[in-house]
Amino acid sequence: MHNSIENVLFSGKEIENIVNTLAKNIEKYYNCKEFTCVGLLKGCFIFMADLVRKINLDFEIDFMTVSSYRDSVSSSGDVKVISDVRKDVAGKNLLIVDDVTDTGNTLEFVKNYFIGRGAKSVKFCTLFDKPQRRVKNIEPDFCGAQIPDEFIVGYGLDYKGKYRNLPYVGILNRSVYENK
Ligand code: IMP
Ligand code: MG
Repeated sequence: MHNSIENVLFSGKEIENIVNTLAKNIEKYYNCKEFTCVGLLKGCFIFMADLVRKINLDFEIDFMTVSSYRDSVSSSGDVKVISDVRKDVAGKNLLIVDDVTDTGNTLEFVKNYFIGRGAKSVKFCTLFDKPQRRVKNIEPDFCGAQIPDEFIVGYGLDYKGKYRNLPYVGILNRSVYENK
């Protein structure tokens, strides 16, 4: 285990099981319905790569980058689009894929953003959810697992750009970010 990790929350195998269940639920929901999967970079990159390979349907894939964190462990609340999807979203069913839902600021912003641009439907899939931290009255439509109010890294999730490559998800040792 990496020495900045307090403890492992989900092993690679446990994450695989969670992703398989999510893929099955998504498959059931979009069966016979066209949709585009939009990943929120960079946190989604490993999760989305695994998820889409388990969804046995025909669909398009796009990405966007939104930011609210500014290198800290809590959201600024001010969500910005850093890079947008490539294709017009008007009339499309969108499935947004994110790594973790925390305050709900990102979820609310992205839903409103795409509805405002004429998307037919916007559903939100998150690998992890921290319901205790929610400030917005909004919930993900597909959720892998609920987790306690801790800052986690690995499997795509970062702290200051690092730890995304860890093959498991772990709680980051507080000494890494406290008193800094
Ligand atoms: P929200 O807008 O506060 O819901 O935050 C969502 C975004 O914050 C996620 O897409 C992550 O990029 C980031 N985030 C929230 N909690 C964590 C965490 O525990 N580890 C790493 N990133 C996190
Ligand atoms: Mg993110």
